[in-house]
Amino acid sequence: MNYRDALQNPIFKIISQSAKEIEIESFVIGGFVRDFILKRGHAKDIDVVAIGDGIKLAKQVAKNLPNKPKVQVFKTYGTAMLKYNDIEIEFVGARKESYTEDSRNPAVENGSLEDDQNRRDFTINALALDLNEEKFGDLLDPFGGTKDLDNKTIQTPLDPDITFSDDPLRMLRAIRFATQLDFIIEDKSLQAITRNSNRIKIITNERIVTELNKILECKKPSIGFLLLEKTGLLKYILPEITALKGIDEVEGQRHKDNFYHTLEVVDNIAINTNNLWLRWAALLHDIGKAPTKRFSKKVGWTFHGHELEGSKMVFHLFKRLKMPLNDKMKFVQKMVFMSSRPIVLAQDIVTDSAVRRLVFDAGDYVEDLMTLCEADITTKNPKKFNKYHNNFKIVRDKIIEVEERDHVRNFQPPVSGEEIMKTFNIKPSREIGLIKEAIKEAILEGDIPNEYQAAYQLMIERGKKLGLKVSTQND
Ligand code: CTP
Repeated sequence: MNYRDALQNPIFKIISQSAKEIEIESFVIGGFVRDFILKRGHAKDIDVVAIGDGIKLAKQVAKNLPNKPKVQVFKTYGTAMLKYNDIEIEFVGARKESYTEDSRNPAVENGSLEDDQNRRDFTINALALDLNEEKFGDLLDPFGGTKDLDNKTIQTPLDPDITFSDDPLRMLRAIRFATQLDFIIEDKSLQAITRNSNRIKIITNERIVTELNKILECKKPSIGFLLLEKTGLLKYILPEITALKGIDEVEGQRHKDNFYHTLEVVDNIAINTNNLWLRWAALLHDIGKAPTKRFSKKVGWTFHGHELEGSKMVFHLFKRLKMPLNDKMKFVQKMVFMSSRPIVLAQDIVTDSAVRRLVFDAGDYVEDLMTLCEADITTKNPKKFNKYHNNFKIVRDKIIEVEERDHVRNFQPPVSGEEIMKTFNIKPSREIGLIKEAIKEAILEGDIPNEYQAAYQLMIERGKKLGLKVSTQND
């Protein structure tokens, strides 16, 4: 492989020249080199190591660029960043680091390139390309990172206990890279993750969620969640998911293992959507099953009300992990709450009124809900599998048909409370609610079309039944 090809962007020559001007050495390191070798497309981030003052190098580069970009300096970390076109370039002085026991904030000392490579997380992330004029494009690979790329292996450059306890986030990063790249975590490193898993507690929730999101965004997220479970990390991060693990048996009756089922659902949905929040919904759709699980002789295992329980748990989970408590969370809650609706519908004959109710309740999220429920079909019984999928096709067709005719998606009552009050000359009262509910029910049942005239007629009938008189003062 010709590593010079990685450095075709003119920025690298500019960095090289700038480093020469201030008489220091510079290298490009980390993910950029890794992704070039893996042919993972153009990186948006470039990490540059200077043997010396990284901030000074960034300023020199900015001076030599025609548009003189702003240099953002992070003094506490001794790093600087500038933007070149749409690429973010981060500059750092090579360092030797030792971390304090109780936080991931390192104590920093200046070091050589090797020192810097040593302190990186994985051999595949410790690869560097020389930017110095005479050796421009030479690969520096002291830990066999290229070999590990060939063997699809993730391992730490140092003793893994040191690397992971230095920065426990790296345990999650190892699993995230294994999922993204479909790599294996080498045994010693994997064992060290298991040994150090409780150290994840010192990592902020924001950083944990960033990694979880990246795992969920993968083609096959189950790889990551299985590793998280196996290493013991999952119970610290998402105990709601570990609680789904296991099969209980009472009097010969077993229920399915909802942990493995959940992972199948997440993998299924990943084929059909890139919507991260819908993927979160798939991950969380059954969390209410652990606290609602019951056994009775008559009906066996039940999970009554798990959808409502699950949607409440979504709020607590988002809050604990400092995830946004906004419309994204509400969306996940709604998906979890409604997650059993379509399947119940698809087990039976699909009626217009059931579909109308589904569209009414799910509103704009009805397609996402269908995508979730299709992913939820994990039965190994081919007859049932086909039946549910066919019924879902019917449901999807009917959703379109019903919506075209009845417009219940964002239902607006065809007769307003205002008009009911005027018609019967009454003040705000219970009767208005009753009439509105009757109209809505009649529309959803298909007894009347979703139109003003029919709704008006029904209002008059209902009002009379309630003993109301049509006011004569109105036109
Ligand atoms: N790094 C590390 N330990 C961490 C985070 C990062 O050693 N906890 C090092 C690795 O050498 C990594 C580089 O810093 O390659 C850049 O980190 P980052 O941009 O977070 O990751 P990338 O490897 O570039 O990959 P991605 O962009 O996919 O996260």
